[in-house]
Amino acid sequence: MGSRSRRRVIAGNWKMHGLQSETRAFFAELAHSPTELSSGADTPVEWVIFPAMTSLGTAVDLARELPMTAIGSQNTHWEMKGAFTGEVSGPMLTELGISWSLVGHSERRQFFAETMNTARLRTHSLLEQGLQVILCVGETLSERESGRTEAVLEEGILSALTGLSAELIQKQLLIAYEPVWAIGTGQVATPEQAQDAHHFIRGLLSDAFDSVTAQKVPILYGGSVKPDNCEQILKQPDVDGALIGGASLSASSFLEIARLAKKVMVGF
Ligand code: PGA
Repeated sequence: MGSRSRRRVIAGNWKMHGLQSETRAFFAELAHSPTELSSGADTPVEWVIFPAMTSLGTAVDLARELPMTAIGSQNTHWEMKGAFTGEVSGPMLTELGISWSLVGHSERRQFFAETMNTARLRTHSLLEQGLQVILCVGETLSERESGRTEAVLEEGILSALTGLSAELIQKQLLIAYEPVWAIGTGQVATPEQAQDAHHFIRGLLSDAFDSVTAQKVPILYGGSVKPDNCEQILKQPDVDGALIGGASLSASSFLEIARLAKKVMVGF
């Protein structure tokens, strides 16, 4: 199975940005460009926006009108409910019509004490609840410079996925390779660096599960993706989409990336 028969996903991570008015303006602009979002292909590109918590409900309502567009949560607790101040659970999101969550974003790891263990708890619980999970992994600059990139990816992925069934992973898991040194820095990985890491991740999945699973899991690249650098990255055979921070805040740059992604990944 070649890369082009895998699901392709372009995701926007708004982080702590986006007031209600900005959320409405963003989706209104997307609604004016429906052709950018509908590819008409057998395996269309899927678009997912991860707004801040306060904009989730608004975004779900507005995205209903758009083709192939879903809304996700930037962070979700692994328990169904309980005394966990400041957290939201899978059932709370499902009730809103949300079926996607990021897990283990590097900013959660860096600023909010996300660990390998909590990323594992979230991944297992959310997949078992039926959510689509984008598990984020990536090395810091010092890890890359000391030749530890592959070890970091291996530890991050295997610690989160061990014990899960191949079936669940094939249906609901996506991985985002996000080198920490490229996030929000303007310093994007080269297409070769992205391809090498994605290829390595696919090999890990093949060894830990099987080759069918490895071929099915979409692997997205994240880290300073912009309209002017996305094409070469999305052309790589093991790159199945992108997780975009800063450039997803403006509807026009998100739509431009959408247009280029369709051209590169679907062929029109
Ligand atoms: P960036 O963020 O595109 O602003 O680098 C990517 C991310 O954190 O997911």
